[in-house]
Amino acid sequence: MTLDLSGQHVLVTGASRGIGRAVAEAMSAAGARVAVHYHRRREAAQAVAEAAGGGARAFQADLAADGAAGALFDDVLGAFGRVDVLVNNAGVARSLPLGASGNDDVSESNWRAGWQQTMAVNLRAPEALCRRAIPHFQNNGGGRIISVASRAAFRGDTPEYLAYAASKAGLVALTRSLARGFGEDGICAFTLAPGFTRTDMAQDFIDAYGEEHALEGNALGRLTEPEDLAPMAVLLASGRADHATGATIDLNAGSYMR
Ligand SMILES: NC(=O)c1ccc[n+]([C@@H]2O[C@H](COP(=O)([O-])OP(=O)(O)OC[C@H]3O[C@@H](n4cnc5c(N)ncnc54)[C@H](OP(=O)(O)O)[C@@H]3O)[C@@H](O)[C@H]2O)c1
Repeated sequence: MTLDLSGQHVLVTGASRGIGRAVAEAMSAAGARVAVHYHRRREAAQAVAEAAGGGARAFQADLAADGAAGALFDDVLGAFGRVDVLVNNAGVARSLPLGASGNDDVSESNWRAGWQQTMAVNLRAPEALCRRAIPHFQNNGGGRIISVASRAAFRGDTPEYLAYAASKAGLVALTRSLARGFGEDGICAFTLAPGFTRTDMAQDFIDAYGEEHALEGNALGRLTEPEDLAPMAVLLASGRADHATGATIDLNAGSYMR
């Protein structure tokens, strides 16, 4: 079976590095034209777009900022004319410790700001992008949404990452609801739920607790690389897996089986 994405226009958020970068590269290798979104790492995103070729371009947006996600979708539409696949990948994982006697490990203002930023990037930005994408897909015969959540949405996370786990559980519910609501319009929506994957985000945890800890329960005995996740995103984007709409695909090397 060949997965051919020629003619498909794919917006991948957070594609300057890590999982998003691997997804953008794999989509492009399958023939898609890719919008490589980034926040701060412009040069990295431009390098991804240049290496991808096929008309790929880098697009900047701080997805924590009000209105930025909708503006990003409009920018990509303005440049590409259409979007067929939206990959909600950009995310932040902020450590916000909840101390034993209340939130004494982090100030009230940092706690609030951390929750706000986590929800804005991980949940509200996908919501705003989907709000733009759904009517666009309806007018263009359909489309696909792939949201990158996390094992934490189901298993839960450590006490430092309550906001992160909660945001990812919200993203799962959002994606499932879109799958239920818009299937008859030709719109499919899927969630990927990775476990530890070797990126900058995971590195913070590995630096703090060690790679052995990140490998706990990993049935394969090796840490997942971003390239281990990307083929699944291409399969979902291709339309060959549309009858899995609403599904969450666990990509956690067997470390958590639901
Ligand atoms: N790595 C893991 O172990 C793991 C496990 C489960 C789920 N995930 C999820 O997978 C997704 C990708 O994670 P990753 O590990 O590849 O992360 P990463 O290496 O830290 O990359 C994060 C990406 O998100 C972008 N980003 C960060 N803050 C942003 C903001 N305010 N506005 C717009 N974009 C922003 C970054 O852009 P710049 O480079 O321009 O800053 C970057 O492209 C996330 O949703 C994450 O929660 C990761």
